[in-house]
Amino acid sequence: MSGYQQTSQNLYWWQRGVVYQIYPRSFKDTTGNGTGDLQGVIDKLDYLNDGSTELTTSVTPDSLGVDAIWLSPFHPSPMADFGYDVADYCDVDPLFGDLATFDWLVAEAHRRGIKIIIDYVPNHTSDQHPWFIESRRSQDNPKRNWYIWRDPTPLPSSPRKRGEPEGGPPNNWGSFFGGPAWTLDEATGQYYLHQFVKEQPELNWRNPEVRQAMMDVLRFWLERDVDGFRMDVVGLLIKDAELRDNPPNPDADPNLSPNDLFGRQLHIYNQDQDEVHEIIRDFRRLLDEYGDRCGIGEVWFELPRWIKYYGEKGEGLHLPFNFRLMRQPWQAQAMRRSVDELEAALPAFAWPNYVLGSHDFPRLASRLGGQAQARVAAMMLLTLRGTPTLYYGDELGIENGVIPPEKIQDPQGINLGTERTRDVCRTPMQWDSSPNAGFSTAEPWLPVSDDYATRNVAVQSADPTSILNLYRRLLWYRRQSPALYGGSYQPLDVDDDCFVYLRQAGDERRLIVLNFIGQARQVSIPGEEGSRVAISTHLDREGEESLSKLELRPHEGVIIELM
Ligand code: GLC
Repeated sequence: MSGYQQTSQNLYWWQRGVVYQIYPRSFKDTTGNGTGDLQGVIDKLDYLNDGSTELTTSVTPDSLGVDAIWLSPFHPSPMADFGYDVADYCDVDPLFGDLATFDWLVAEAHRRGIKIIIDYVPNHTSDQHPWFIESRRSQDNPKRNWYIWRDPTPLPSSPRKRGEPEGGPPNNWGSFFGGPAWTLDEATGQYYLHQFVKEQPELNWRNPEVRQAMMDVLRFWLERDVDGFRMDVVGLLIKDAELRDNPPNPDADPNLSPNDLFGRQLHIYNQDQDEVHEIIRDFRRLLDEYGDRCGIGEVWFELPRWIKYYGEKGEGLHLPFNFRLMRQPWQAQAMRRSVDELEAALPAFAWPNYVLGSHDFPRLASRLGGQAQARVAAMMLLTLRGTPTLYYGDELGIENGVIPPEKIQDPQGINLGTERTRDVCRTPMQWDSSPNAGFSTAEPWLPVSDDYATRNVAVQSADPTSILNLYRRLLWYRRQSPALYGGSYQPLDVDDDCFVYLRQAGDERRLIVLNFIGQARQVSIPGEEGSRVAISTHLDREGEESLSKLELRPHEGVIIELM
């Protein structure tokens, strides 16, 4: 049995709550320039959680009821990677507003009981950050050692002939976005490291001055009352001290784009070095100084390495993001295995979490192959043991956007092939049926999806069985159910095509039955007399009783209250 009894009392907000990711460029534009902004987030806070404390279970609530929002970066940035190239960690890009708007957002969110988590991008800055501008001035600049500079590796054909370059990159590492991870700075004759685009030079976290400066960045935002940070590629901060070559990956996909050096290597030396945990402990100590704050990390390594990011005794991240379910095929037993492996591996101090969508992956509804599956996924995400993170628009079942090649913005799509573009999951939020889906009065920075006139917040709010209303019901139901937000998890062997688990806190028992296939299933459930359906993903059989033989329609999930 992989579950352990967890008291549902005394949970922290980041354990009990639901996180909602906002990609600010795409949420709501209030200035009429086609790009979303922080005022847009403020204007839509009531949609996310209007602060009403009414724990309604029978009526469809008007607001989604999320507990925290995570904002992707809004700092000054040349936008080479849409804000993940930060030119000033302690300000707001004028495109999104200013610090006063940010403070107002924090205040307005807190007034509604919503926590604010911001993105912290510690691995790299923009090449326009003053630190890098200094650093690249000369080899003896005091900021030179703030980044990772190396001499060229002499080419084998030395002595070189006239016109030949002096040397090649310092090692064989590839960039996630294609090509080598090194760019030569002609003026100073050395290469600098960047595992994303060349406009994202990597900070040298082995330098204590960098650590100090980057800890000050955290302090700056903690003082402004943010409740937590989502730490971008935090496992990359420390690289091998000798920067050794990565070995080739024998299982690399033969169809990789020719410039995808990254995909052809095993990532042994460029990431996940043991010394990174010292830094993470420093982050944690700082967060703890400020009380009830939360450190979330973007960490995608295999389970045994990933788990270390919680710390040996819980002195690491509160929540290293768990992306594992996103990598499973849409099969009941595959999902169950992934959850059970996690449950079995987690030490008692470590709190689980699940992510099904983000600004880096194709849309959930498209990945799973349909709206019915997306509804089952919503029920799974919001009923597993641990903190769920929702991605904006998934509550509407938004599908991958269709981006004409000339409109592709994402460097990953530009460098590695149109099919790799992350623009598909960054299309504007669909608020209503007016032009541009109510997102903006101007042409949006990415095209609005064609289905916006029928798939939007206004239309779905009026439809009692829409996926939006399913999300609302699930969130509000979860909020008042100790079994769901804090209880134990126990999987049950019932039917290979169904993922079935019991959540329990004290006497409260909730059985979740998720049918993963496009055919009806009949399952026997272990309830005594009086058990009833609380929610079906179809939103049409609430209160149904006599469940000893439970009929599930194709792609249907149900939450059952066991008596
Ligand atoms: C993370 C972000 C991604 C970004 C990359 C570089 O993976 O989620 O959007 O491109 O880091 O910062």
